[in-house]
Amino acid sequence: MSRTPFIAGNWKMFKTMAETKEFAEAFKKQERTSAVKTAFCVPFTDLMTAKEAFAGTDIGVGAQNVHFEDEGAFTGEVSLPMLKEIGVDYCVIGHSERRQYFNETDETCNLKLKKLLQESDITPILCVGENLEEREAGKAEDVVSSEIKADFAGIPEDLAEKVVIAYEPIWAIGTGKTAGPEQAEEMCGFIRRTFASLYSSAAADKLIIQYGGSMKPENAAALLAEADIDGGLVGGASLQPDKFAAILNAVK
Ligand code: 13P
Repeated sequence: MSRTPFIAGNWKMFKTMAETKEFAEAFKKQERTSAVKTAFCVPFTDLMTAKEAFAGTDIGVGAQNVHFEDEGAFTGEVSLPMLKEIGVDYCVIGHSERRQYFNETDETCNLKLKKLLQESDITPILCVGENLEEREAGKAEDVVSSEIKADFAGIPEDLAEKVVIAYEPIWAIGTGKTAGPEQAEEMCGFIRRTFASLYSSAAADKLIIQYGGSMKPENAAALLAEADIDGGLVGGASLQPDKFAAILNAVK
């Protein structure tokens, strides 16, 4: 099964509108392979600027969160109709920073996935991954499989197979520590088998699985060469046009 590699940047809470424009101009000048799908998941305030700056290119734009209600008294939240009007292509769901600092739970991830899948063409990028304590206790697989089962609860196969799953071991995010290629492959393979057990091996064969956690030009080629790693979700290194282009070009 050949899956088109997909590498996305997750800017987290970085870059103003002016910085987004400047980045886009510089990134469009980079030499990069056309064999890789790419996108930037930017702060809400940068979405429109990014859409305009990347118009007419193959570069997608994603949000980093969405609320599961259409509207209401939810101060500080952003709804799916708002994202649809901007024309965003992707939406990150369940990033570990949101799970850790903003009370995101598997239950809300599930509601958000359903909302996106049932009511839009926006591709969800669902993040899963264990923390250091869980890894050291030998519970990495249990944690990740329970996240996947809960996050996909009640979602039928024809919708589930549209989701991109990002395996992001929490201990490797922003720490400079990367899961070794074999370690990352082991977990991404496990994610594919878990997905196959929930749905079918045909659906699992199509599933795009990204690795995220200190991915950079120096380690990208080895990670991306693994059979079950179809791309990356890149934090820090996606903030610099040349570094991010180098990661894209690391795909064989
Ligand atoms: P870093 O690449 O900065 O470790 O971040 C990874 C990440 O959390 C992407 O969503």
